[in-house]
Amino acid sequence: MGYVKYEQKDLVGVVTIDREKALNALNTEVLADLEAAVDAIDLGKTRCVIITGAGQKAFVAGADIGAMSTMTKEQGRVFSKRGNDVFRKIESLPIPVIAAVNGFALGGGCELSLSCDIRIASENALFGQPEAGLGITPGFGGTQRLARTIGVGKAKELIYTCGKVKADEALKIGLVNAVYPADQLMDECMKLAGKIARNAPIAVRQCKKAINLGLQMDIDTAVSLEAELFSFCLDTKDQKNAMTAFCEKRKPDPFINE
Ligand code: CAA
Repeated sequence: MGYVKYEQKDLVGVVTIDREKALNALNTEVLADLEAAVDAIDLGKTRCVIITGAGQKAFVAGADIGAMSTMTKEQGRVFSKRGNDVFRKIESLPIPVIAAVNGFALGGGCELSLSCDIRIASENALFGQPEAGLGITPGFGGTQRLARTIGVGKAKELIYTCGKVKADEALKIGLVNAVYPADQLMDECMKLAGKIARNAPIAVRQCKKAINLGLQMDIDTAVSLEAELFSFCLDTKDQKNAMTAFCEKRKPDPFINE
């Protein structure tokens, strides 16, 4: 995994896209390494993942423009599908994923952040979908996930104009959950990941499933899915532990993912 580093920090996995010279731009090799890193996550001992970019300047500055510049129509279709498959895998991980956006998040970089559950930005982060200015559409899910995240009107404006969004504006439009000085970004993301990791892991997974699948369903089907997942949790040791502790006015034992 030459272009992607993985570190296990207790219950949190940190994935770093490491192609700093090209501002972590995504070519086929980087996508393959990212997929391998995601596939290798030990879901038995990891309760939250953080994805970030190497260096001080970029999260990911997009798909690799040099590589795309000579692609045929068929190669473009394959490349777009490849990126979409990897990002869908990230989005579908059963555990929450936080994007620690430490600089440029343009094109494929913005799209990568959108495939994560939560985006936390450094003050120097810059978001945007510059594709139309390069003669293409967003190709790794941007037309779909940006509209679902910040609303159709604002997404259309940004995509049609190739507008760039600084961190403070990203916070205002709901593209990111929080903004921190660059030197505090990873610590804050670790704190957030730690808060998630402290909760009952099976319950957190069912919450992610309910939200992600439910958003694609009509409300009646979605709330019955929620009821299923709710009742599933009632059959876990972690639920018994937590609720017994509440009734006995004490703290629960650490959750065991069972
Ligand atoms: N692809 C390939 N290489 C890239 C890149 C990208 N998306 N972004 C940056 N790089 C490379 C540059 O070519 C440069 O390499 P060299 O040193 O070999 O010349 C290196 O990274 C540093 O970049 P700059 O010198 O340009 O740095 P800067 O600080 O002056 O500018 C920037 C930074 C504004 C991000 C600028 O690099 C830039 O505009 N990059 C392209 C951003 C972009 O348009 N991204 C969207 C791509 S399209 C897409 O992603 C499609 C999709 O959805 C699938």
